[in-house]
Amino acid sequence: MRLSRRQLVALAAGLPLATALPGAAWAQKKIVLGFSQVGAESEWRTANTESIKSAAKDAGIELKFSDAQQKQENQIKAIRAFIAQKVDVIAFSPVVETGWDNVLREAKAAKIPVVLTDRAVNTKDPSLYVTFMGSDFVEEGRKAGRWLVDKMKDQKGEVRIVELQGTVGSAPAIDRKKGFEEIIKADPKFKIVRSQTGDFTRAKGKEVMEAFLKAEGKNGINVLYAHNDDMAIGAIQAIEEAGLKPAKDITIISIDAVKGAFEAMMAGKLNVSIECSPLLGPQLMTAVKDIVAGKPVAKRIVTEEGIFPMETAAAEFPKRKY
Ligand code: AHR
Repeated sequence: MRLSRRQLVALAAGLPLATALPGAAWAQKKIVLGFSQVGAESEWRTANTESIKSAAKDAGIELKFSDAQQKQENQIKAIRAFIAQKVDVIAFSPVVETGWDNVLREAKAAKIPVVLTDRAVNTKDPSLYVTFMGSDFVEEGRKAGRWLVDKMKDQKGEVRIVELQGTVGSAPAIDRKKGFEEIIKADPKFKIVRSQTGDFTRAKGKEVMEAFLKAEGKNGINVLYAHNDDMAIGAIQAIEEAGLKPAKDITIISIDAVKGAFEAMMAGKLNVSIECSPLLGPQLMTAVKDIVAGKPVAKRIVTEEGIFPMETAAAEFPKRKY
């Protein structure tokens, strides 16, 4: 097929292919999406990866998938490789919030649109990405806080809380802390006595909870607030090994609502999980197609989510998709 001068210019300028190619060629050309994933740190992340891979397949989009193993440098390398390969769209879930401007400027200079999924970046230049789709992490933290304030409304004495934070510098760790604190600060009886990262993993969640229990003693902790279910599940093990009853001696709140959390709730070991849906694949593929076709896409697409206290777990479990 010979392209006209106008089409070649449009292609070189990085305009949507639909404007550069005639109908038949456009229909044949598969969209290529480069996706840089954070890693495989949690049950949530595994479900998110699965959702993206299967949605790409269903949408007929060629997916170049790269796992950054929780390292920003690996994500930057992957994005540069996608630019060099001239993919049509780049999408990524940024492991931390800051430090992306340079590589995003490189993508912009190469006229490759960028989509943020799951986690946001902190930049003064919003033109560096087309859209950000994912949860409202501050609101998730608020939901956790509201649930706790309500549960402990009749409690007279101090409520001693330990917090397992997510990956340092990541959007969910920053925002979930912020939202939770915003709610509990209304009543001085709530005190976060220890707060440390467990990096969103079960192993670290267990390790840090062991340290919390050692430092605060068996009766020194009333509540565990974990920024994800995996850390809570690791911490539950530490609590049991210390001879305490999870969800009874220590109230446990976590975020994600993965199947593992439902199992823990049904076993009476976790009090509540705030939903954070990883099933972003289908909406990502829709956005990618729209971007390539030159259609407008909303700058922010927020995921709708619920709250699952342990009393609802058995009824909800069969309906869960992740
Ligand atoms: O960015 C979403 C968070 O990342 C999930 O809550 C957590 O489980 C994951 O690792």
